[in-house]
Amino acid sequence: MTEHPGQLFAAGPRLRPEEVPALTAVALRDAGINLHGGKIEFLQARLSRRVTAHGLESFTDYARLLERDAAERREFVEALTTHTTSFFREGAQYRWLEITGLAALEQARQHHRGDLVIWSAACSTGPEGWSALMVTERARRMQTMQRRFRLIGTDISRRVLKTAADAVYPAAEVAGVPVEMRRLFLLSSRSGDARCRIVPELRTLAQWRQANLVEGTGLDGIEADIAFLRNVLIYFDAPTQAAVIDRVVRRLRPGGYLFTGHTETAFRHPELTPLGPSIYRKDER
Ligand SMILES: C[S@@+](CC[C@H](N)C(=O)[O-])C[C@H]1O[C@@H](n2cnc3c(N)ncnc32)[C@H](O)[C@@H]1O
Repeated sequence: MTEHPGQLFAAGPRLRPEEVPALTAVALRDAGINLHGGKIEFLQARLSRRVTAHGLESFTDYARLLERDAAERREFVEALTTHTTSFFREGAQYRWLEITGLAALEQARQHHRGDLVIWSAACSTGPEGWSALMVTERARRMQTMQRRFRLIGTDISRRVLKTAADAVYPAAEVAGVPVEMRRLFLLSSRSGDARCRIVPELRTLAQWRQANLVEGTGLDGIEADIAFLRNVLIYFDAPTQAAVIDRVVRRLRPGGYLFTGHTETAFRHPELTPLGPSIYRKDER
């Protein structure tokens, strides 16, 4: 085992600068993740466990393994992606939806048959989509809205999708859910282990599937009335961001809304009109 200054326990091989490009190339090719020319500490921290799990002696060996092992490429993408999310994150967007957005959407959809669709396009473990579904379902129960919404959540990571579908969250994670929504849409665990589950009435309205926004795979048949594309564009370079935004806009019905993350660069798209901070409407044709 090699020892390095400042490291008490050397946890496997060190990543050398000349080994970085082979790894960033796979990240870009398989997930559109742009590591901006390196981020050597980031890669070291995220990938060391994968390298040692395979008993490899160098990151060069790991890059070779990635080329021949599709399952490991999936683990690689899992290791590089950040899944931070929370219920009612960027709460102003949900308030806007409740107070302003839903009524206008219902008006625009008066001749549409069937349920309306919320799409959480990089849904992580699900809180973004569940929060939106709580807002729309509560509006329906209060009869401020007649139409029912279904939820489609997509993500590149199968692991987070499983959590989303199980819909079980530690109590601390649901702390951001407003009290009334909690009463309507969360069940506390009977075993008293401080976990909550989304109620079956919402779970039956949701489906979760794997999709890659960069490759455009897994998106067939999605036609949304409300799309969330938040805190994922930051991974991509400018041309990829533009392609991903366009891919999402094409799956949004005219008059529908797009929500993006506050930290993501403002952008222009010929079919989108900004309605507020990080809130857009797709123009009617
Ligand atoms: C930081 S989380 C954001 C979750 C949620 N949208 C939010 O704002 O709370 C980013 C998510 O994007 C997903 N992701 C990264 N690259 C992706 C890609 N190419 N296609 C689909 N999802 C991707 C990650 O797996 C991760 O779950």
